[in-house]
Amino acid sequence: MTISYTAPGRVNLIGEHTDYNGGYALPIALPQRITATFTPAQIETLTVVSDRAEDSVRIDVDTVPGDVTGWGAYPAGVVWALRQAGHPVSGGTMSLTSDLPIGSGLSSSAALECAVLGALAGAAGLELDRIEAARIAQRAENDYVGAPTGLLDQLASLFGEISTALLIDFRDVAVHPVEFDPDAAGFTLLLIDSRAPHAHVDGEYAARRASCERAAADLGVASLREVQHLGAEALASVKDPVDARRARHVLTENERVLDFVAALGELDFAAAGKLMTASHASMRDDFEITTAHIDLLADTAVAAGAVGARMTGGGFGGCVIALVPTDQTVTVVDAVRKAAVGAGYDEPELSRVYAALGAGAGR
Ligand code: GLA
Repeated sequence: MTISYTAPGRVNLIGEHTDYNGGYALPIALPQRITATFTPAQIETLTVVSDRAEDSVRIDVDTVPGDVTGWGAYPAGVVWALRQAGHPVSGGTMSLTSDLPIGSGLSSSAALECAVLGALAGAAGLELDRIEAARIAQRAENDYVGAPTGLLDQLASLFGEISTALLIDFRDVAVHPVEFDPDAAGFTLLLIDSRAPHAHVDGEYAARRASCERAAADLGVASLREVQHLGAEALASVKDPVDARRARHVLTENERVLDFVAALGELDFAAAGKLMTASHASMRDDFEITTAHIDLLADTAVAAGAVGARMTGGGFGGCVIALVPTDQTVTVVDAVRKAAVGAGYDEPELSRVYAALGAGAGR
């Protein structure tokens, strides 16, 4: 028996660093994906090979955090988290293939976790509910790999649908499909990969999360979502001014997500674009997770004709998305390329992206 399961990367249209604050986000699944092909055997080790790595990884099915490091920690973490959740895991051989850039902020980690999870679960005959699957994959990343990330990326990978964005309410972890087809309205969603890698197993992501948690504690609430209805004025009693700015980003970003969904409902892509640009400014000024390089790419796209642009993902590098009237795409692409190279950065990689199908068996 051989099981094949594939899981896509994601682009978050808007709603950054809101997931672990019980807020809102609006991702799409990407066409680019990772496929895990698994042949189970009656053995206690799982050997994983990847078209992106030279060495294979051997994982004991009773692995514990700390056993495996590097990229192998992701599949190992999934093995561990599945067993922690009370599910059986078989040994065997697994091969991974990918057309998703690694470390670009497109959620290659979540795609890897979800692909491995789907293949292992399929082989064991498990029918995991997608929310449960997302939580198991998140646990692999949080407690095995050691990155304190939220649930955004896994949900996007598992729930993606063609021409659909996913409005996620992280308070009750509910996913609502929202039609997203800019092409039909004469707009292109342009992905600008800065090619400056980013990482979450470093201190900055955890520091942002800690700031938000301190702000919530100062306000006497478990999560910033609980003061959302009071607006940014509610933050007056947050003690540290930096924490207050971080929290202001979260509250204003949640509002922008809902406004963005409303704009999509009216097919008002110009309004949606403005919200993207405002989101970028908030990430730059209040949350301080952009870089001069990323700011240049986003600002140049807007100056050259995009109706809006913003960094997507955890920050400190990675990708920018821009919403561009389709007839201006060539102008925007040229301007962004020229500006990046002119400033001495790597030439960015630009491509058109769209909302694609989420994870599934043999897709
Ligand atoms: C990373 C994390 C997500 C989310 C985003 C920021 O992608 O994995 O959980 O917090 O950053 O929105």
